Amino acid sequence: MTICQSLGDGDGTFAKALTKPAAYGTLVGKFLQETTALEPECGKIIEIGGGYGTLMAALLDVLQPQQISMVDISPTLLEKQRERLHKFPVSFHCSDLFAWLPTLQRQPVDLLILNEIIGDFPTITDLAKNTIINSVNFFRLKPEFANKPALPIAPASLSETELLNEAVRLIATYNLDVNDLPETFNLNYGALLFIERLAQTRVARTFITEHGCDTALPYPFSLFPAIQPIADRNPRQIKLKDHDEYNIRFDHLEQTALALNFKVTRFHLMDLLKVRFDDEINYLLTSQKPVNEEQEIFLEFYEHVAEYQGILLEQ
Ligand SMILES: C[S@@+](CC[C@H](N)C(=O)[O-])C[C@H]1O[C@@H](n2cnc3c(N)ncnc32)[C@H](O)[C@@H]1O
Repeated sequence: MTICQSLGDGDGTFAKALTKPAAYGTLVGKFLQETTALEPECGKIIEIGGGYGTLMAALLDVLQPQQISMVDISPTLLEKQRERLHKFPVSFHCSDLFAWLPTLQRQPVDLLILNEIIGDFPTITDLAKNTIINSVNFFRLKPEFANKPALPIAPASLSETELLNEAVRLIATYNLDVNDLPETFNLNYGALLFIERLAQTRVARTFITEHGCDTALPYPFSLFPAIQPIADRNPRQIKLKDHDEYNIRFDHLEQTALALNFKVTRFHLMDLLKVRFDDEINYLLTSQKPVNEEQEIFLEFYEHVAEYQGILLEQ
């Protein structure tokens, strides 16, 4: 279950772990208004990969945009979104994000949301560090390679050689640090490519969250070994029921976005949600011994949410 689904409409047990229980989309809307100059009566907002439409339904409690679009690769989930959002004037588009992004080069958009979706984008796996570092050095010596634009096709359709070339191009162009990685590593190719293509659009602000592989917990949660996420910086495969995804190296996204002149704000989801920290939670996280079903749910929630980071890109 995603964090958004766990919190539902803000009235279930998971939401009781928040200082002020609320639906996830409501909290995202408030965070965006506090952190950016987003006006409640803004022009256009778009969510990509909106799952069951839960985030958007609650976001529309705090924002009253003139235009709303939902884009999803899954016709089944798009149908769920249609049911959930039937009261609102929403347009629905069944499309792969990468095929659809160029439409945003023409129209101004106030807010684009990608909540727990970038882990689904293609990841290049098992890259040999020594080969990559040598190729990156070679790439930098050859300006004709450095100026080569990204391939204008969806990442899933690239051959193995093209993927390798793309990994080298991204690492060299955006100075991505790979020295701290093991001899064989993974690269969040699709997520990085998304940021490159986002820079060519007229989207003013983009809100992204996902599991991170370089997540540091905010204080005081950083004090509890029980909920420390694995932060080895190497995107890790997460096996799900119907598909696999990879967690995200957010410092690579940040580095790429800064090079493309975005204003970047990184955050931990625990801060956005304002999760509770009081005597009960302190004892629970220290003892790891829930005394009732509610505390079991809390412990599960804290362990889960601990891995999540976000990044806000403004241009
Ligand atoms: C893990 S779900 C997250 C759902 C929702 N955002 C949430 O937080 O509950 C990922 C969503 O992204 C959609 N998705 C995955 N890859 C996509 C792509 N390339 N283009 C558009 N939608 C995509 C899936 O169909 C699904 O709706």
